[in-house]
Amino acid sequence: MSGRIPREFIDELLVRVDIVDLIDSHVPLKKTGNNFVARCPFHTEKTPSFSVNQKKQFFYCFGCGASGNAISFLMDFSHLDFIEAVEDLAGFVGIEIPRESIEYQPGPKKEDLNSLYALMNQVAAFYAEQLRISDEGKKAVEYLKNRGVSGDCAGDFMLGYAPDEWKALASRFNQKLLLEAGLLVSKEDGQPYDRFRGRIMFPIRDKRARIIGFGGRVLDDSLPKYLNSPETSLFHKGKEVYGLYELLEKNTKPQKILIVEGYMDVIALAQFGIHYAVAALGTAASQAHLDLLFRFSSELVFCFDGDKAGREAAWRAMESAFSCLKDGRQIRIMLLPQNHDPDSLVRKEGVDGFINRVQGAETLSEYFFGHFSNELNLSEMEGRAQLINKAKPYLEKLPESVFKEMMFARLKELSGWNHLDVLENVATLAPKQHPKISRKRPLDNGRLSSARVAVALLVQNPRLAELLEQRKIDWSGLEFSGAPLFKNILQTIADKHPANAAVLMECYRGTTEEKPIKALAYLDLQVTDDKTDAVFCDAVNRLLTQAKEAGLARLLDKEKNQGLNAQEKDLLLKMLTEK
Ligand code: UTP
Ligand code: MN
Repeated sequence: MSGRIPREFIDELLVRVDIVDLIDSHVPLKKTGNNFVARCPFHTEKTPSFSVNQKKQFFYCFGCGASGNAISFLMDFSHLDFIEAVEDLAGFVGIEIPRESIEYQPGPKKEDLNSLYALMNQVAAFYAEQLRISDEGKKAVEYLKNRGVSGDCAGDFMLGYAPDEWKALASRFNQKLLLEAGLLVSKEDGQPYDRFRGRIMFPIRDKRARIIGFGGRVLDDSLPKYLNSPETSLFHKGKEVYGLYELLEKNTKPQKILIVEGYMDVIALAQFGIHYAVAALGTAASQAHLDLLFRFSSELVFCFDGDKAGREAAWRAMESAFSCLKDGRQIRIMLLPQNHDPDSLVRKEGVDGFINRVQGAETLSEYFFGHFSNELNLSEMEGRAQLINKAKPYLEKLPESVFKEMMFARLKELSGWNHLDVLENVATLAPKQHPKISRKRPLDNGRLSSARVAVALLVQNPRLAELLEQRKIDWSGLEFSGAPLFKNILQTIADKHPANAAVLMECYRGTTEEKPIKALAYLDLQVTDDKTDAVFCDAVNRLLTQAKEAGLARLLDKEKNQGLNAQEKDLLLKMLTEK
């Protein structure tokens, strides 16, 4: 497992795999024209709008906008992270992943990890047995019963009990492994001893059912109330959540996921049949947490206590939330009544009452603007100016999306200030209309700009960059809508030589350009293979002429009104003589 997967290998994998075979093995495809189609696996629909293009090695859903290459498909379809998807794809193609050797050994080897996982399992089984059979464990069972946790529920969450002894684990298991697993505390001047003593134990499992850490609660009021495993080579608090494995056991595609604060909240909700809650492990939900959860559901609901600390935590959670909010992802915020957590509330108000609250939770936009409306006086100009200053940095973190544009529109409305420079962003290159319309749009009705034709053809056929290299065009100073993206793609092609659109897209995974590039990759330009070069050259020529004319007009205008500096004069002269 150790070692980085070389970039070239990923590129090769994307060239070797046939996305049609890959997707067909998960979702049976039917051939129509140049594409293969099916009912979309990512949303519910009656007629197929999910289409796979063999030449581009790309899929696209005209209904929900899901799109990408073979790796994206596996990530979305099988809820995998990037590395897992590459591993699966390599398995599908039948080739071994080479790992770049690393000079230093950053973590334990695979065999060591396996023995750590095995140890964690044995320890959890030991704790569970102690809960069931030991005399001390009876107190813990009593405690759980008092808190309304049934035997079945305790079983689902594999709850256990750590005996109140210094060496319960140390005398039974391998000490070195126990230390590595964070289950012993080492003392400078003596023998290491068990970290968890006299506590109810909550095993923390990753989504592949492996136990990676533990939380432990005391049975009384002593402190600390909870102890958690430290960071180990298995356990990374910032990346894992409590309850995800148990949630997926009940439903692999929950409509929403609740993010609560405590172990006992997750368990109490499950006890009441609400099997879609997880808890961040005693930390604020990080971006990695949210990205993980968004792989399983498109809607996350944050639950916070209604007190001051809870309200502050809710606001902090927005910081990670904003940069994760691609189109199609939704976040709601639910503030609970004072002195309640989900555990106490579901017991007081029952399932229906609790679910009603979840359904009534504020959307992120309501919550966000509501927060400022409470804090600032928007009837005064000063308040509205502050609103812009405070809200804008958040909104700028949003990935390019319809949602981002709508949030900016709302900000304009609330502030009454129309000059907010919503950046002319690269997303404007992507089709704005409903994709169903753009699919049918013919090339030559004048509505597709030369820029869009040129950049879309380039994305779909990266080899076209060669035609431009031969012409040695100086792109600097040429301004047209989408110029930064166009130049950016040319640079990437020059650096990485992607073999097809799928490989090119891979270079942009996780960047702001990813979305417009995916949309361009699937734009149907209705250009046959034999015409591609000619149409591309023609579009580029028109683009160059337009950009030069616009530049010239700008300079002439400036000369008339403000005068030009020396550099601009040179440029004007150059342009006029070239013409
Ligand atoms: P809470 O104190 O709200 O816990 O802490 P809770 O789940 O409601 O606990 P009960 O109902 O009293 O049993 C929320 C979470 O914060 C972490 C734990 O993950 C806990 O579930 N925490 C809390 C700690 O890590 N250490 C502590 O001492 C307290
Ligand atoms: Mn509680």
